[in-house]
Amino acid sequence: MNDIAFLLNGTPVRVSADNPTRTLLDWLREGRGLTGTKEGCNEGDCGACTVMVTDDAGTRALNACILFLPQLHGKAVRTVEGLTGPKGELHPVQKAMVDKHGSQCGFCTPGFVMSMAAAQANGATDHDDYLAGNLCRCTGYAPIIRAAEAVAGTPVPTWVQDSPASAGPAPFAPASSDELAAWYAAHPDATLIAGATDVGLWVTKELRDLPEVAFLHACVDLQRIATVPGGLRIGAGVTIAALRKAVQSSHPTLAELLRRFASEQVRGAATIGGNIANGSPIGDTPPALIAMDATLHLRRGDTRREMPLEAFFLDYRKQDRAKGEFVEAVTIPDAAPDLACYKLSKRFDQDISAVCGCFNITREGGRVTAARIAFGGMAGTPKRAASVEAALVGRDWTLATIEAALPAFARDFTPMTDMRASASYRLETAQNMLVRHFHESAGTPASVLEVQA
Ligand SMILES: Cc1cc2nc3c(=O)[nH]c(=O)nc-3n(C[C@H](O)[C@H](O)[C@H](O)COP(=O)(O)OP(=O)(O)OC[C@H]3O[C@@H](n4cnc5c(N)ncnc54)[C@H](O)[C@@H]3O)c2cc1C
Ligand code: FES
Ligand code: FES
Repeated sequence: MNDIAFLLNGTPVRVSADNPTRTLLDWLREGRGLTGTKEGCNEGDCGACTVMVTDDAGTRALNACILFLPQLHGKAVRTVEGLTGPKGELHPVQKAMVDKHGSQCGFCTPGFVMSMAAAQANGATDHDDYLAGNLCRCTGYAPIIRAAEAVAGTPVPTWVQDSPASAGPAPFAPASSDELAAWYAAHPDATLIAGATDVGLWVTKELRDLPEVAFLHACVDLQRIATVPGGLRIGAGVTIAALRKAVQSSHPTLAELLRRFASEQVRGAATIGGNIANGSPIGDTPPALIAMDATLHLRRGDTRREMPLEAFFLDYRKQDRAKGEFVEAVTIPDAAPDLACYKLSKRFDQDISAVCGCFNITREGGRVTAARIAFGGMAGTPKRAASVEAALVGRDWTLATIEAALPAFARDFTPMTDMRASASYRLETAQNMLVRHFHESAGTPASVLEVQA
């Protein structure tokens, strides 16, 4: 087995691949004594462990606590220790944090400056979005945002401009979907790891051993978005960040939903394939994809099959996927002008949905001619609101029709009560989403997010 090889703060390093689920954070802190990268939550939520990773796709901020070492093979990693210049000069983001008083106890600061450095390297100015995955308990965000604003558009120091290392075949990582298909058919009990934003937590929180794993990040053919007749075929390995960028103008409501998906660090690792395959009833992409009538493409060895995505979710955490079969792609229509998505979560940013409602309602001459409505958080699977759809189709698009359709929600869903929301709250907010959609379609602004940093 090859070693795992990558650049660490500009210096080539090799790590034995004997423990493929060792996290970068543990290795940095315990293996290398690089304790500037902090451990806060160890589950991708707080950003204290943020590092910069550069590969052929560019530079990203990622959470080291849920990154496994093999995922770094052939890439360049930069930690807070590598942010300062060769003569000890501060990186502009560090200087700005000092100048703007952006740090008090300092625990969160290494993570913040790494996110800010990645934002600066990418010319990003949407600081609220970029920094939503970094939590600070004492300074308050205004000085930190001021620091980020101060460096936006300034030159990126040459010493942080990493080039990915050329490192030969990656351990535990098939180099193409053909290789993956053959390997997985022969090792059907193995765990596939794409972005590791779910699987990472099985290791860090549930302390699970994963005896046999395959990483998907080297299958570059799974990372393509292709235009096909009638739609866009999105490879399973496309990250949420890449998808958000790709559909910004063609599917703006989907892109906006993806802005609310976790944080910059998680979106840069998490894949669409992982979001579908994990079968979570509260994943954000399945309701939107089902509302668009997406087609799922599965592959086992040389055998391929496809199905409407909604048919994939059989029961709570039970999907129509055979052993050794993997998600290859999902196809969506090339536009979805009627799609509206509403995500309800306790925090606006970086939070899993309590309820996610996606409405794709077509109207002609004031009458509903077609409706596909799908929800997350309302059942054991992402699920269509078939009775609500039936109560709308063929009727006039009026408030009276909407109100008459509301009782149908209780026929479609028997939601549960959990820490995110009670059953009755879920049912009522799902109904309210339809009412909101009606008002918005009539041009009435319904967003209550007026408070901005
Ligand atoms: C802090 C945090 C915030 C989050 N916020 C959100 C959120 O707002 N919305 C949301 O929907 N999710 C959220 N998630 C969950 C997670 O990011 C998503 O489910 C993500 O899409 C998983 O993708 P991944 O590539 O990281 O999957 P992985 O963790 O690599 O894998 C997840 C599962 O899918 C399987 N798998 C992966 N790829 C394939 C494939 N191609 N074929 C077959 N099986 C495969 C794996 O074996 C595993 O069972 C969050 C996670 C964290 C840590
Ligand atoms: S330690 Fe909190 S995101 Fe990694
Ligand atoms: S400065 Fe203390 S947590 Fe941010």
